[in-house]
Amino acid sequence: MPKTSKTASQLQLNDQGELTHLLTLEGLPKEHILHILDTAQQFVAVSDSDREVKKVPLLRGKNVFNLFFENSTRTRTTFEIAAKRLSADVINLDIQTSSTAKGETLLDTIDNLVAMQADIFVVRHKTTGAALEVAQHLPPHVHVINAGDGTNQHPTQGLLDMYTMRHYKQDFTKIKVAIIGDIVHSRVAKSNIHALTTLGCPEIRAIGPESLLPKDLNMMGVKIYNNIEEGLKDVDVVMTLRIQKERMGAGQVPEGNAFFKQWGLTKERLQLAKPDAIVMHPGPMNREVEIASEVADGPQAVILKQVTFGIAVRMAMMSIIIGN
Ligand code: NCD
Repeated sequence: MPKTSKTASQLQLNDQGELTHLLTLEGLPKEHILHILDTAQQFVAVSDSDREVKKVPLLRGKNVFNLFFENSTRTRTTFEIAAKRLSADVINLDIQTSSTAKGETLLDTIDNLVAMQADIFVVRHKTTGAALEVAQHLPPHVHVINAGDGTNQHPTQGLLDMYTMRHYKQDFTKIKVAIIGDIVHSRVAKSNIHALTTLGCPEIRAIGPESLLPKDLNMMGVKIYNNIEEGLKDVDVVMTLRIQKERMGAGQVPEGNAFFKQWGLTKERLQLAKPDAIVMHPGPMNREVEIASEVADGPQAVILKQVTFGIAVRMAMMSIIIGN
């Protein structure tokens, strides 16, 4: 199959302008994001704990392949649950025991799984652009969802974060959002910044040491704060992030205690935000490094709600790309 020169945001839409893959939130039009959030809202009811049969037949007979070349707890599991609630068959390839260890390339693995009638690939990989590479390679009837590519994008996390913010704060055009910590290595932060910008959020703040903030934040319209107390003043949403050690070189990893002292989200610091501000974290958390336990478990934290909403958002995503 010839490679196209299309960018991720172009390639994820078909000729009719509908989503056929989900690679990035950069450039994803507002109508698409809102359609995904509205569809997810309908799927929340399917996951309702009172509902006896938590399933709908939208993906019956379809094969969803989870390919996680990097560790995952929430994303992989919620994709599996989401696919099962849509009645798909789910295959979790165990990368550790797969032929990847024997030197098979990503695209050769993909070809073999397409030969097993794959319909959707959910791909997480340490390399930026891995999901794009898969999308360029796939025949038109097979779809790929990026579940995190290097430090680049994590679009379903960005969407579930938008779902959570809309659930608690309703109107994106009236909120101030602060993202704290290791933004430079965070694909979650990048997906969030793109989506918030598209949805009209008037103030996105990045709080952290210069070494952990991307150089192009100003160009993206994000306000930089090198002081956490100032950055938290009057915000509606506070998002904390893990220090992504695995993406740092030797000697670059900040020391946990020192980081917490200067940049950790404590109860006292949270009081500078609006009294009804919500606290988010994509997980996995490192308690007492980027967030105090009493905040993570406190009344303003919506961290576990994010996880639950992730199921409905991933159901929405898969049903939309299969429907298109
Ligand atoms: C994040 C990831 O993998 O990018 N986790 C997630 O998917 N919820 C964040 C992280 O690893 O720190």
